[in-house]
Amino acid sequence: MTVTVFEHDHLLSERAKARSFSHFSQGPTDGAPEGFKPHPKPLALHWGMPNPGFFPIDSIDVNLVDYPFQKSLSLPTTNASVESLIPQGKSTGRSVTIAKKEDDADIIDISRGLQYSEVEGLPQLRQFARDFIKRTHAPAYSDWDVIITTGAGDGLNKSADLILDPEDVILIEEFTFSPFLSNVKANGGIAVPLKLNLDAESGPLGLDIDYLQNLLENWSELKPGLKKPKAIYTIPTGQNPTGVTQPVELRRKVYDLAVKHDFIILEDDPYGYLALPKYSKPEGLLRLGQFLEIDEYLESHLTPSYLTLDTTGRVVRIETFSKLFAPGLRLGFIVAQKRAIDVIGKYAALVTRSPSGTSQLIVQNVIQKKFGGVDGWIEWILKMRVTYAHRRDVLLSQFYESDAYKKGYLDVIDPSAGMFASVIIKFPEGTTDADAKTKLLNWKFVAFGVGVVPGANMAVDKDFSAERSNFYRITFAPANDDEELTEAGQRFVGAVEEFFEKGLKF
Ligand SMILES: Cc1ncc(COP(=O)(O)O)c(C=O)c1O
Repeated sequence: MTVTVFEHDHLLSERAKARSFSHFSQGPTDGAPEGFKPHPKPLALHWGMPNPGFFPIDSIDVNLVDYPFQKSLSLPTTNASVESLIPQGKSTGRSVTIAKKEDDADIIDISRGLQYSEVEGLPQLRQFARDFIKRTHAPAYSDWDVIITTGAGDGLNKSADLILDPEDVILIEEFTFSPFLSNVKANGGIAVPLKLNLDAESGPLGLDIDYLQNLLENWSELKPGLKKPKAIYTIPTGQNPTGVTQPVELRRKVYDLAVKHDFIILEDDPYGYLALPKYSKPEGLLRLGQFLEIDEYLESHLTPSYLTLDTTGRVVRIETFSKLFAPGLRLGFIVAQKRAIDVIGKYAALVTRSPSGTSQLIVQNVIQKKFGGVDGWIEWILKMRVTYAHRRDVLLSQFYESDAYKKGYLDVIDPSAGMFASVIIKFPEGTTDADAKTKLLNWKFVAFGVGVVPGANMAVDKDFSAERSNFYRITFAPANDDEELTEAGQRFVGAVEEFFEKGLKF
């Protein structure tokens, strides 16, 4: 294990480094007079915190399910098999009560959770985040820490502030979670797109490592006038929008380039824990083999984070509870070198203060009381994973079995993680206006009653990506049941087939 001294201050923004924070109600800290002794039991007349007796809430009962869709009216067939997998006597009950005062140090009680609290997050949830990361993606160095955020969107905003001064450059996968581009812009940063390969026949899918390497080695000729990049922003697992996952060998190459060319890796990973098996035709009930043991999942299915390669403290990892617990909580966390966490904390004190205590209280206490801590939480993730895998299979089966696929009008990128897949439209050779055709086809999807995201909508630079924008992002996350997924898939392929049969016309 490498112990790093943070040597990357030159990669942090001047604005972020310059911030300091002190609270007006802090007592005197310097110039203690001779003979001063602190009082053993000081009383507070300084903090403006209402006594918890003023809170109208005395306790909260949280009613829970044992697996996704347990209470849904249209129970997908998939869950029948999940139910039979809950070991007898292991379920900890379906209700968690949170009292005003609790003795258990891991529990956030009402008097603490509904009070003003630490900007970095409540200590119990922060500790859970550290323990979870140690179990899933232990960093390769020791002086890292976490800060709780109000979700990955907030984590991204705070990371952009951490790194970017005006004219600073950040490398971004050419199709990406486009709201981040606004964070880059707000800080005056410059986003430079990185080529992705979405054609399985012309090489490994996803980030084109040769393109990246060549760009970095020949930066001043290829990007005259631009500063060398301070960071790369990547969604390495179940990428949004493409669904592609970077293999570990590729991550190692990117990490080596980051060390060689001295930049930060900003890893945004909302989907990575939903590691999916390869597509297989859905058979109604799930095969038991898909329901993994925790150790098997961690060792052979979960793709390791860049943190696990990080011997120099240059990875900033953004996590969120949005996809695994619920988006409305607005809760997530950042993992990074302690110095970076400290600098982010000063910005948090300015923009968000502490994340919602109610959300922290619900997440922490449900994880502790219902799931029993880190491993129980991973078991919940495994149940989600099985359900997502089934949904993916149901949706993709409509594509693979369609005439449009058999006739070569489309191809599908089968995701190995997350909730997105890409459908590539294979325009006939010589099609010169693929961009216009992709737009026109989108009208066809609307007419057929199916919503999709054109790849171009998520491009860093539409011109740069014009040749590779012939795809749509689809997701199996929001549908209510298998029937809806099946119908949506059929509408999609129906629209493509009609479009092609009419000579690429509406
Ligand atoms: C890649 C990526 N990053 C960040 C976010 C924002 O997530 P959150 O809800 O945690 O703000 C999303 C949400 O869809 C996402 O896809």
